[in-house]
Amino acid sequence: MSSPRKLTPQEEARLAQVRANFQERRRISQSLEGIGTRIGVYSGKGGVGKTTVATNISVTLAAQENKVSLFDCDIDCPNVTRVLRISEGPVQNGDKLVPPARFGVNVMSMAFFQDNEEEAIVWRGPMIHNAINQFLHSTDWGSPDYMIVDLPPGTSDAPLTVMQTINLDGFVIVTTPHELAVLDAKRSINMIKKMNLKVYGIVENLSGGVFGTGGGEALAEEMTVPFLGALSMSADYMNSKLPASLESKSVGAEFTAITENLKRQIIASKS
Ligand SMILES: Nc1ncnc2c1ncn2[C@@H]1O[C@H](COP(=O)(O)OP(=O)(O)OP(=O)(O)O)[C@@H](O)[C@H]1O
Ligand SMILES: [Mg+2]
Repeated sequence: MSSPRKLTPQEEARLAQVRANFQERRRISQSLEGIGTRIGVYSGKGGVGKTTVATNISVTLAAQENKVSLFDCDIDCPNVTRVLRISEGPVQNGDKLVPPARFGVNVMSMAFFQDNEEEAIVWRGPMIHNAINQFLHSTDWGSPDYMIVDLPPGTSDAPLTVMQTINLDGFVIVTTPHELAVLDAKRSINMIKKMNLKVYGIVENLSGGVFGTGGGEALAEEMTVPFLGALSMSADYMNSKLPASLESKSVGAEFTAITENLKRQIIASKS
């Protein structure tokens, strides 16, 4: 038998990279292993209400005595902390970061690491990938029943990286009734299906009024995915102190209905 050939420096470097990637993946999955269900809130279109839906579903679940972590994965423009009015950041415990809690929800966000709120974060794909990985394995996630992930818009690098890294169990797709938002939501659903991941259902936000109504439900039917419910346009989202679902009975009822439908879909997908 011939003795093994000595590796070239390039081959050594490639092997070291593969080993490092493998170790990082293992550290991430160890860090996330206590989490019950991982839910991505997503849409291809910006500004349709992903952050609003992610935060209000989180506080609704927490108010029902569930343990909830909310991960603001919009690395470029994180704004969960703004919506929840969190000023204190995570605290260091050994080599882990313990996220602050607000309205019963543990929150982790890139915003904690910005020097100021208006700072623009211009990162390329590999940097986003590294930042997300860093977040995932250096956070003490504990063992929440649910992890809600507020994804960045688009179908490009950032959301894709998040989807591939976190191993999400399923997605809530947010759209408005407007046809352009519906078209983008359709693209998002197709992307998720292409990745063989699950769509828990669609939420129609800004329902009624000038935008009309029914676009989200029609899309759900067309794509054969569940419709989770609608959210009307409401001035209660302007309140600076409380998330709208805690501030207003009618918004609270809409989120309770959506959350119940979501939980039903999660249970159905696990059985
Ligand atoms: N149903 C609603 N009624 C009134 N205002 C709303 C409603 N839903 C969302 N908004 C407001 O619309 C704005 C955009 O919502 P949000 O930030 O949740 O969208 P997004 O999809 O997360 O945006 P981005 O793509 O930039 O991350 C916010 O100011 C929010 O308060
Ligand atoms: Mg957002």
